[in-house]
Amino acid sequence: MTESVERGVPSKLSLMELSFTVNGERKTMRVYPMARLLDTFEGLAADGKLDNLQEAFLQCGGAQCGICTPGMILAASHLLHKKPEPTLEEIREGLSGNLCRCTGYTQIFEAVAEAARRRRIATP
Ligand code: FES
Repeated sequence: MTESVERGVPSKLSLMELSFTVNGERKTMRVYPMARLLDTFEGLAADGKLDNLQEAFLQCGGAQCGICTPGMILAASHLLHKKPEPTLEEIREGLSGNLCRCTGYTQIFEAVAEAARRRRIATP
């Protein structure tokens, strides 16, 4: 059974098929999810409204070609969940391992800091 999971809990732990390409050739991998809650880039948006991290990336120029964007935003989401007021160094560390060939990282780090600031304002 192939299943697309956005944020949420699959109705049951069923076999999932992941598709990707390697050197232009389609590959698939079948996995049994070990976790019951999966977060995906697409799942961050709720009811057709972008998550504030996604908005901040757009507004700060943190997304250019977009190849790195899902990984950057999911890493940033995890970071802000653990650390709502990260320093620049914590943002750099939290996003390390994700490579961006376009932005030079400055706009990405600014986007994460901006999203954190907006979350603080929205949560009194
Ligand atoms: S926006 Fe192109 S690789 Fe990051």
